[in-house]
Amino acid sequence: MNAVLAISEFSARPAGDDGPAGVPAVRIEGLSKTFSKASGPVLDDVSLTIQRGEVHGIIGRSGAGKSTLVRCINLLERPSAGRVFVSGREITSLRGRALRTARRDIGMIFQHFNVLSSRTVAGNVALPFKVAGLSRAEIARRIPPLLELVGLSDKADAYPSELSGGQKQRVGIARALALDPSVLLCDEATSALDPETTEQTLALLRDINRKLGLTIVLITHEMQVLRDIATRVAVLDHGRLVEEGATFNVLAFPKSAVARSFLSGLVAHELPPLVAARLLPEAVPGSDPVLRIVFTGEAAHDPIVADLVSQFQIVPNILHGRIDYVGDRPLGVLTLVAGGAGPRLPAVLSRLASLGLFVEVIGHAVRSAVTCRHGVAV
Ligand SMILES: Nc1ncnc2c1ncn2[C@@H]1O[C@H](COP(=O)(O)OP(=O)(O)OP(=O)(O)O)[C@@H](O)[C@H]1O
Ligand SMILES: [Mg+2]
Repeated sequence: MNAVLAISEFSARPAGDDGPAGVPAVRIEGLSKTFSKASGPVLDDVSLTIQRGEVHGIIGRSGAGKSTLVRCINLLERPSAGRVFVSGREITSLRGRALRTARRDIGMIFQHFNVLSSRTVAGNVALPFKVAGLSRAEIARRIPPLLELVGLSDKADAYPSELSGGQKQRVGIARALALDPSVLLCDEATSALDPETTEQTLALLRDINRKLGLTIVLITHEMQVLRDIATRVAVLDHGRLVEEGATFNVLAFPKSAVARSFLSGLVAHELPPLVAARLLPEAVPGSDPVLRIVFTGEAAHDPIVADLVSQFQIVPNILHGRIDYVGDRPLGVLTLVAGGAGPRLPAVLSRLASLGLFVEVIGHAVRSAVTCRHGVAV
């Protein structure tokens, strides 16, 4: 597929021209949603601003309220309290025909694709045009560029049963983009796809985001999806927004326990429970400090451990660590016992800080009689 060519042909709207300059794509103010008084609020006073052109990830445990939140953006669910603005227009004040018209500005794709099995690919993509009242001739003219955009030109007459999961999701994407929305809501859109198809689907979404200036709101439980495509991340926990920020910052310095635990598969923020259970909160005679070092830039390439050995005669014992890349920025977390640091600990910490590393003492480990000649065991 030549996505660049296809996108430029398809887009009726110049990239980024989806509302007055400076107006966020989505603004959520004090949003709450309660389905039943007995079970309490599913969303509780959520406020979130999503700027135009962002790919904004939303993460949180199952039942945290992620789907409900995105369904409140296009008013598939009506909030119990609060306001939602899309491209500067208050969606929550609209009803009936005005709401249906405003919804054209918001596309949505789902985990299970939601394609109609009784219709061909072209028939599925035609649906939003039919609902919008376009003529047959106009619909016939609009479908080919959309299919080209998503790489399905040769599948126009195929039925969903003849398509792979990735192709079905492409039908979903084409249908969601049919009316040239400025916001695309994705609810676990790649969760049912294998890793390679996920990567291809993300590449398509990224391309659409860049070339069309389309704002994407992306719910995912796959942290690598977040790393690969999201520019910002919001974290929901029990219906409350507990954290929001640029993806790299949330990955490197998660503030909430839920974000730390979610990201632990990607960034080594949390020690394996067996190791964590053996750390002491306070130093005791014969213990050594345990350092958690976060590498976020050039220092990720420096021989930090060798530096600690040669400068401070530390005997490091690495407990846990991982270095990953977010875009082209390295991001690593290393947890080590600074064996024999003793009174040199402040000097060690300031040396690490001077290298641009973020370091904290997360506990203490007692030296093992067996291993103290080589390092420190916990
Ligand atoms: N229509 C509904 N009626 C009653 N309760 C609902 C309804 N929709 C969602 N809920 C409840 O709201 C809570 C949040 O659901 P939601 O689907 O938003 O969670 P989620 O974060 O998307 O979870 P998951 O990751 O499993 O998809 C859940 O407890 C759910 O049971
Ligand atoms: Mg959900």
